[in-house]
Amino acid sequence: MNKHWRELIEDFRSLILNFQIENGNELEEFRIKFLGTKNILKPLFAAISSIPNEDKKEYGLLLNQLKSLADEKYSQFKELSSSTENKSTEDLSLPADLTRIGSRHPITLVMDKVVSIFSKIGFQVVEDREIEDDWHNFTALNTPDDHPARDMQDTFYLKDRNDFLLRTHTSSVQTRFMTTHRPPFRILAPGRVFRNETISARSHCQFHQVEGLYVDTNVSMADLKQTLLFFAKEMFGKDVKIRLRPSFFPFTEPSAEMDIYWGLKDETDHRITKGTGWLEILGCGMVDPAVLDNCGIDSKVYSGFAFGMGIERQAMLLYKIPDIRYYFENDLRFLRQFKNA
Ligand code: DAH
Repeated sequence: MNKHWRELIEDFRSLILNFQIENGNELEEFRIKFLGTKNILKPLFAAISSIPNEDKKEYGLLLNQLKSLADEKYSQFKELSSSTENKSTEDLSLPADLTRIGSRHPITLVMDKVVSIFSKIGFQVVEDREIEDDWHNFTALNTPDDHPARDMQDTFYLKDRNDFLLRTHTSSVQTRFMTTHRPPFRILAPGRVFRNETISARSHCQFHQVEGLYVDTNVSMADLKQTLLFFAKEMFGKDVKIRLRPSFFPFTEPSAEMDIYWGLKDETDHRITKGTGWLEILGCGMVDPAVLDNCGIDSKVYSGFAFGMGIERQAMLLYKIPDIRYYFENDLRFLRQFKNA
């Protein structure tokens, strides 16, 4: 090295700093010159063996700084050039830019999964209205006006038509379907429901449910349990454990809630299962004979089971989503994390 190495490094520094980049070609030239496989900094790195031992450390440090300077300049200009790309010179024969393709909402992903699981065992999807009348949402489901169970679901009534409301559960689709169809049938009703609840990390005034209903001759609790076990295995893996706990719903008798065993592996598991390892997934039971009769189905001939599950909670578990409000805020940073399939 003829020049003192410090001077030489300084020369390279100004070379990098003063290199004009005004278009894509110059950017590429810069890349080849300073970052390519045969870049001009390489000989400097090779020359380290000829530097006196006491200077080697400083020399190495300065060289690395030189390299980072080139790296930074390159990425800065690259970003700039892709954001200010001149669209008119774009090659129109190129395939469309796939990076901006939309993704499915996590709620849709989980609902679709539930639907596909039950469709394997003959359940047919039925959808119905979100603005429902009082009879289909409550009365026909064994929940008359003065029934205390109405307090369980804080209802949004329509302002000037108090007999209409935003459905509080997808069980309203059961009564819609049963009044217009004759058994046997197996239906699945996914949809949005509404309750007048304070919005927090754990609850919202709108959420999603999937309702299931099977009516035929001789439908039993054993059928219900096997169906739900099949669902749980498909949804959460074949080693999943379930349990049915006795519960109460006005429209089923007997009624139960189904828990799955989630486990207690870490702090979060302890929190979401309240330290038990078990997590409630759905409500279910044998359709109360009075409900069948209300809908014009002879309860002496037919019996049925029904279940209703929340979707938000399951999506929170499957995707580790900590706050229910994320679902409804349309924040692209959240939404883009979900894949299309
Ligand atoms: N509709 C109930 C709720 O929203 C859930 C439910 C429980 C649905 C039992 C059912 C059932 O079909 O049988 O809390």
